[in-house]
Amino acid sequence: MFRRIADPDATLSFTFDGRTLNAARGVSVAAALLQAGVRVFRHSVVGGEPRAPYCLMGVCFECLVTIDGVANRQSCLTEVLDGMVVESQSGAPAITQGREE
Ligand code: FES
Repeated sequence: MFRRIADPDATLSFTFDGRTLNAARGVSVAAALLQAGVRVFRHSVVGGEPRAPYCLMGVCFECLVTIDGVANRQSCLTEVLDGMVVESQSGAPAITQGREE
């Protein structure tokens, strides 16, 4: 049977679009958001359709979010950390290379 490797009692908090959420330590941002009931991570660049994780293994790029000001991060490959600021994306974000302009 599946069971969590990390301590299930060790939790942290992060924000998604300004909303404070809790997650278990050791899970991905995508898993934490899905567990919190988030179903729309971004809106597509071309038609604006709602998008959410599909493969959860770094292949489809449907899980892109902005993390701590850096756009286009694959939430399924990024471990959620305490105090992390995660934002949904809409359309084509500007390329910031991790720096504030
Ligand atoms: S869910 Fe497919 S790349 Fe993240």
